[in-house]
Order: sequence, then structure tokens, then C-alpha cells
Amino acid sequence: MQIEKLKQAFSEHFPGRQPTIASSAPGRVNLLGEHTDYNDGFVLPMAIDARITLLGALNGTNEVNLYSLDFEAKDSFSLEAITQTEIHRWSNYIRGVCDLLQKDGYNLAGMDIVLQGNVPLGAGLSSSAALEVATALFVDKLNDLKVNKTELVKLAQRAENEFVGVNCGIMDQFISMLGEKDHALFLDCRSLDYQTVAARFEEAGCTLVVINSGVKRGLVDSEYNLRRSQCEEAVQLLKKDLPEITALRDVTIEHLDLINALPEALRKRARHVVSENQRVLDAIEFLKADNLEAFGELLYASHESLRDDYEVSCSELDLLVEIARSTPGTLGARMTGAGFGGSMIILTAKSAVEELKNRVMDEYTAKTQITPEIFTFKAVEGATIIPLD
Ligand code: GLA
Repeated sequence: MQIEKLKQAFSEHFPGRQPTIASSAPGRVNLLGEHTDYNDGFVLPMAIDARITLLGALNGTNEVNLYSLDFEAKDSFSLEAITQTEIHRWSNYIRGVCDLLQKDGYNLAGMDIVLQGNVPLGAGLSSSAALEVATALFVDKLNDLKVNKTELVKLAQRAENEFVGVNCGIMDQFISMLGEKDHALFLDCRSLDYQTVAARFEEAGCTLVVINSGVKRGLVDSEYNLRRSQCEEAVQLLKKDLPEITALRDVTIEHLDLINALPEALRKRARHVVSENQRVLDAIEFLKADNLEAFGELLYASHESLRDDYEVSCSELDLLVEIARSTPGTLGARMTGAGFGGSMIILTAKSAVEELKNRVMDEYTAKTQITPEIFTFKAVEGATIIPLD
């Protein structure tokens, strides 16, 4: 078991010392609601059974000492002046969370930590959010800070924005902290109110297949930030006619005439966000009614909107969606996460999974020379503290 392995690693790297707690946090897939979180909109992610686990103890110094089993690497930093490291990039997520907690006025003491995870890295499944959230919960517990989970989520997001320098929204950290077993979360990214929505795919004879396209585009951060600023620009222009709006969340399909009058790029970005928010609202109704066919159609529609209007897909993800669509038994498919590579999700009949896997392995590999990774994840609970005895 992972905990046993971490305990062993702890005694090897910190000889003579005893770990006192462990924490773990999952990665995620987003079922629907892409590029809506930073527009104050709606998302529908689910936490997956791939997690990052931290184990350790206070060490009575002012230093944080880390050992990553995945990278087989050590790192240390002083709590007195936390800076970024170029060498151990994984450490920046931990440094960022500690830095932000201290800047918010919390007193931290030195810690010895070992960590390991099985969230695929660079696959668009939010391994960085999982690490930030596992760290936030771990540091909170070990230092007895008693910060509530939603505040820790916001802090983890700020660590990524302000320390790591990626301007992400709140979805990934939120689902990693607050995910629930067998459920997706319907989250309002403005109020942070959420409802659990049963993900009864298995009961309906279906499987949610996740495929890592194996594509990593360096463009993600710059294009992501560009999309964000285009959305803000669209809001500024729409304000002339709709002075009360503060985000694209406040714009609906009824305002299509105003959206259509925007300059082309902004029109397309706004049209995606507005239609995607509506798709999330529709999806909730379909899932509650166990209407997976209609839900599947929304996945296709979301992909098309992300491909044509938001322009964050890529030829490899489009190819995967086409392979899925032409395989009998598929109900719906789309890219998930920020885009420009990363992963996609397919909702398919359980009986069709093998055929789908074979076709993806044959056709995708033949056309792209990339071997994709294929997963079937369960919806699991969010971050937890694991007591050690
Ligand atoms: C990334 C970001 C999220 C969200 C998605 C797109 O995963 O971290 O905040 O914006 O992209 O929906």
C-alpha cells in the first residue's frame, strides 16, 4: 500500500524520526463546463481515483525538507524567505502553498515530508492542483491552523496564480478538495455554492473512458491567458448595452444579438462561454433524469464549441473525438481541461469499451505516431487526512 511505501521512504530519508500524519488529494476530469470557471460560470468536474499523498512530521526547525518518490529527488527550503526553484519544479507547488499561508499571517513550523502520486503528469488531469490541495490540507493539519476547506481551496488557487505563475480558475483545486465518491460536483464558480450530482454511469451500463492524447503544447499558458483577457474584453464591450454585467456568466443566449455584434474573436469566445454555461445547466437535468443519450450529445456539442469558437482543441484531440464518435456504443466525447493537448473523455456503453480501446490504439497511433494512455476512472472523494497509527 502507498502509505506503507511512504512510511518506509520516510524512515530512510529522515532516519530516527516518526511521521505523524499523511494527506492525499485526487486529480480530476471535467465532465462539462470548460473555460467557464474564470468567467464566474458553471462547471461539472469529478475527482478521479488517482491521488497524490504526502506523509511527514514537524521537525523543530525552520526548514521544510522534501523527498519525492516519483522524481527520486530531495529538496529543502527555508520558511524565512520562500523563493521559486528552477531545479525541482514539483517543489514550487508546495513552496507556493507555504508562502501564501505565511503571507496570510499563519505561522508555520519546519516539516519533513515524503510524497508520491499516481495522477498522470502533464496529462491535463490536474496533478498540480492535487499536489497544492494535498499540501494545503497537510500543512494546515500539521500546524494546527484550522483553516476551512473552501479557504484552503482559494489559497491553493492563489498559490498557482501568484507563486507558480499560472493564471488558472478555481475548478481544479475545488474538486480536488471537495469531490465526493460516485458523484460529480455542479459548482457555481461565482458563489462557490455546489451540489453533488450522481454519476450513475456504471449503473446505466456505461463507462467513462479517459484518454491522454500524449500531446503537450508549450502554448497552453500563453493561449490560456489570452482567452481570459479576450473574455474580459468582451465583457467591457457588452457593458455598453448591459451595464449591470461583471462577467460572461451574466450574459445568456437571449443576448445573442449583442454577442454577434462583437469583433470576430471576441464573438466566438463569448459564444462558447455563454453556450457552455447553458450546457452545464442542461446536463444537470439530463443526469438527474438518467438521460445519458442527451448528456452525451452535450459532450459532442461542447467539443465542437471548444474547437470552433474557443479554439483550444488540437488535431489530435479532434481525431480522438472522431474515432470515438464513429465507434458503435459511444454516447458522447470531448476534450477535458484547458486544451491544446491533454486528455479527453468518452461516455460509452460498457460492452463497447474493448472495441473502442482497440480502435484508438490502432487508428490514433497510426495517424499520430503517439501511443495514447487509456484510463477508466471512478468518481472518488476529495482530499483527506489519513491518520497514522
Ligand atoms: C485548467 C484550469 C481551470 C479551468 C480549465 C478550463 O484546468 O486550471 O481553472 O480554467 O483549464 O476549463
